[in-house]
Amino acid sequence: MMLVMIGLLACHSPGEGLTLEELQDPETCAECHPDHHSQWSGSMHAYASEDPIFRALNEKGQEETEGGLGDFCVQCHAPLAVELGLTTDGLDLDSVPDHLRGITCYYCHQIESVTDDHNNPLQLAMDRTMRGALRDPIDNEAHPTAYSALLDRDEAESSHACGSCHDIVTPLGAHIERTHLEWKDSLFSQPLFGLNCGSCHMSGRDGVAAEVEGVPLRRIHDHSMPGMDLAVTPFPEAGAQRAAVQEILDDTVVSFLCVQPPTGDTSLAVVSLENVAGGHYFPSGATADRRVWVELVAYSGDQIVWSSGDVAADEPLLGREETDPDLWRLHSTLLDVAGEPTHDFWEAADIDYGELLVVQTTLDPTDPTYVQTHRSHNYLIRGGGFDRVTLAVKARPVPLDLIDSLIAEGRLAPEIRDEIPTFTLGPTMLEWTADVPVNSGSLACVPEAPPASASAGTSP
Ligand code: HEC
Ligand code: HEC
Ligand code: HEC
Ligand code: HEC
Ligand code: HEC
Repeated sequence: MMLVMIGLLACHSPGEGLTLEELQDPETCAECHPDHHSQWSGSMHAYASEDPIFRALNEKGQEETEGGLGDFCVQCHAPLAVELGLTTDGLDLDSVPDHLRGITCYYCHQIESVTDDHNNPLQLAMDRTMRGALRDPIDNEAHPTAYSALLDRDEAESSHACGSCHDIVTPLGAHIERTHLEWKDSLFSQPLFGLNCGSCHMSGRDGVAAEVEGVPLRRIHDHSMPGMDLAVTPFPEAGAQRAAVQEILDDTVVSFLCVQPPTGDTSLAVVSLENVAGGHYFPSGATADRRVWVELVAYSGDQIVWSSGDVAADEPLLGREETDPDLWRLHSTLLDVAGEPTHDFWEAADIDYGELLVVQTTLDPTDPTYVQTHRSHNYLIRGGGFDRVTLAVKARPVPLDLIDSLIAEGRLAPEIRDEIPTFTLGPTMLEWTADVPVNSGSLACVPEAPPASASAGTSP
């Protein structure tokens, strides 16, 4: 560490600090902020303009709109490169220096104002001062510092800074990503809770904000920001990022399984799910691309008697309803001007929000905005004679049929397909066995106390 200090002192006399160009390179920060750097380096923010699926879709969109898409995608996925005038359509990202791609340290720590609530309306200062939540930072050799509520997870302003990039309205007016709006309408945005994006996504621990002599012990904040997505090409911190995604997904949903013990050929089963940790819907954001579904399997001994959502890790969900009419899937569908489903953002004129797990808006059940956050789904288990039923919620960030179509069009390398993860939300895994006592009407439930709504499922 002393070497670092001496190195910096050798290049810059005290007080002079780093140049603008040096400050725009995340590698520069690694010297004094190594933990922040390594967490960020594996994040989807660092990956945002590397992602080959992003590149393939942007390229397709540019072709199909004959360039009409312009900087629509890169304004969020490569915002610093756009700000610096290094790309206007993202087709030339390879010629943009690595360190200016993606959502970088400099980009976030330069946010000066937020002028709208969607499509990245962030204004940057473009100076040398690093803005953050420290009210008493010590002086350092590299850069001036300043406090900003826009980067303080204890202040609602910070949610608007994150959220205005996490809310997309397409050129045809479809509000296709609504994480910001969902949060604004939720309990969490109310002063009583005051849980901002960073409160949940940047967990704090005691440590040093910089590996520099004389820094005090503080609360410092995680920058890996896991959600559901992972890098699909070799990328730093891949193992840590996968573990962090699994961990946040495992916290998100609570499940209940109620089964009518088999007496004849068909038995009712009711699955209930609740989003207990998201400050927005589950899934949120790219809900039209997320694939979240319920796997329910009835066994007699080791034999599968009946199943729904028993989809292999390499199998698409597309068209599955034809053979699996009970399938419960949680995602939205983009609709084009003719009201037909489309994968392509730039064609989206509307969105069918489908059945996502919502977030509570008020604690007062008499308030008209109060919502039932448990969602239930009824199944008819056919075949009878089963003695065991297993439940699991599955999540996949991108549909395999979209990947297949991009590969077929020659826009994506075939090996990417094997990299698309399918997560099992561990705590949603439940097992019903014939010895579970009937405890809710004619149903036997695990865990024992079912939610009030479990006997009033919505379908089929
Ligand atoms: C020579 C070491 C050094 C380098 C290089 C460096 N910083 Fe810092 N930085 C510090 C020190 C020291 C602090 C204050 C830490 C404290 O008071 O606990 C700090 C504080 C910060 C803060 C908190 C500001 C606030 O007011 O809340 C941010 C944000 C920050 N640095 C970002 C960066 C970024 C981004 C880079 C790379 C462009 C970078 N730093 C490079 C030493 C450095
Ligand atoms: C109360 C805690 C909480 C708050 C507040 C919160 N989140 Fe989340 N967020 C979560 C959890 C838990 C997940 C994991 C579930 C998931 O992937 O949807 C998540 C997932 C996400 C995802 C991935 C969504 C997906 O399904 O692909 C994004 C993006 C995200 N959050 C952004 C935000 C932004 C932006 C804000 C503020 C406007 C915010 N979050 C506020 C808890 C929170
Ligand atoms: C997506 C936006 C974003 C990116 C990208 C980002 N930061 Fe931060 N950073 C924040 C926010 C927000 C906080 C303040 C959290 C709080 O205290 O409320 C923060 C806090 C910090 C702090 C103060 C100490 C702490 O942990 O609270 C340092 C130092 C820092 N960031 C350095 C970096 C470096 C270095 C990079 C790149 C390697 C980086 N940040 C990338 C948003 C970002
Ligand atoms: C400049 C726009 C921008 C800002 C500002 C921004 N994000 Fe993001 N964020 C993105 C993009 C784009 C991605 C997805 C990159 C990808 O998957 O290719 C992303 C990804 C994420 C993910 C991972 C989602 C997943 O499913 O894997 C989380 C969580 C997240 N952001 C939270 C935050 C939080 C918290 C803040 C504020 C501290 C923030 N973001 C600020 C654009 C932004
Ligand atoms: C307003 C900012 C914004 C714009 C504009 C935007 N994105 Fe994103 N993009 C995001 C955020 C935020 C996420 C992360 C969402 C999540 O985790 O659920 C994301 C995630 C993604 C992902 C990874 C997840 C997935 O859906 O497979 C891809 C690919 C992607 N965007 C492509 C595009 C393309 C192509 C365009 C232009 C047609 C575009 N984006 C425009 C903010 C934006």
